[in-house]
Amino acid sequence: MLLEGKRALIFGVVNERSIAYGIAEQLHKHGARLGFGYASTPIRKRLEPIAERLDGELLFQCDVTSDAEIQSGANLVREKWDGVDVLVHSIAYANREDLKGRFIDTSREGYRIALDVSSYSLVALCRAYERLLVHGASVITLSYYGSGRVVANYNAMGVAKAALEACVRYLAVDLGVSGVRINAISAGPVKTLAASAVSGFHNILSLIEEKAPLGRNISLEDVGKCALYLASDLSSGTTGDVVFVDSGYNIMGL
Ligand SMILES: NC(=O)c1ccc[n+]([C@@H]2O[C@H](COP(=O)([O-])OP(=O)(O)OC[C@H]3O[C@@H](n4cnc5c(N)ncnc54)[C@H](O)[C@@H]3O)[C@@H](O)[C@H]2O)c1
Repeated sequence: MLLEGKRALIFGVVNERSIAYGIAEQLHKHGARLGFGYASTPIRKRLEPIAERLDGELLFQCDVTSDAEIQSGANLVREKWDGVDVLVHSIAYANREDLKGRFIDTSREGYRIALDVSSYSLVALCRAYERLLVHGASVITLSYYGSGRVVANYNAMGVAKAALEACVRYLAVDLGVSGVRINAISAGPVKTLAASAVSGFHNILSLIEEKAPLGRNISLEDVGKCALYLASDLSSGTTGDVVFVDSGYNIMGL
């Protein structure tokens, strides 16, 4: 039990295919107490049975585009838990029209939305929870290979992930003063609701099987186990980093 009694807040479970679900499962298996933040009322219905199965103690609305909702969530957590040991940010959104075709056609508003929901939200959550994150706490976010390389159709989300990874480095310095670590997991492609918005996503899945050193796509368990390592004391000297869980695809050249 690597996380016995640790309080872990998870933002981004929408169903059992969510990467955040794979993470929640592993943290729960290792003794963590769980709390869930969700984007909107319709998601709550889907999340309730999942949270129940994982003995979730907190379930609250937190649309990350709203500073007021972020703050009211943090107030609730302070009241119920007093402190937080693990915070998982597994959130991204871009308009469908900005996940296909030419990047050059990204609108100002589409760009703003992608960056706001998928990158700035990490900064906003870290600020709201800064005082609740105990010494030794760990923050984890999710990135993708498209942050540093051009992936067809990923477009605005690629830019948002580049910004997200830069945020992780800057936040590592601010949070490090209080002994809090923050890292990103760069996950290989997984069939989720968010991924289905990216045009031609299924082509990426078969490419990984063909080209990655491990010759297979990753599972939710693969990501969950890496999150377990980053959430626990096993990674006590690691912060500001991006850890790949992608069957090794990112190391390949020609
Ligand atoms: N699926 C992949 O192939 C893949 C690969 C690498 C990284 N990621 C990243 O993993 C993270 C989780 O995505 P996923 O693939 O599990 O998909 P998902 O659809 O299961 O999860 C995305 C989550 O973002 C939440 N969200 C969107 N807008 C929000 C808002 N305004 N406020 C609060 N929550 C909001 C959704 O409700 C959902 O829970 C994302 O950051 C995604 O970019 C996914």
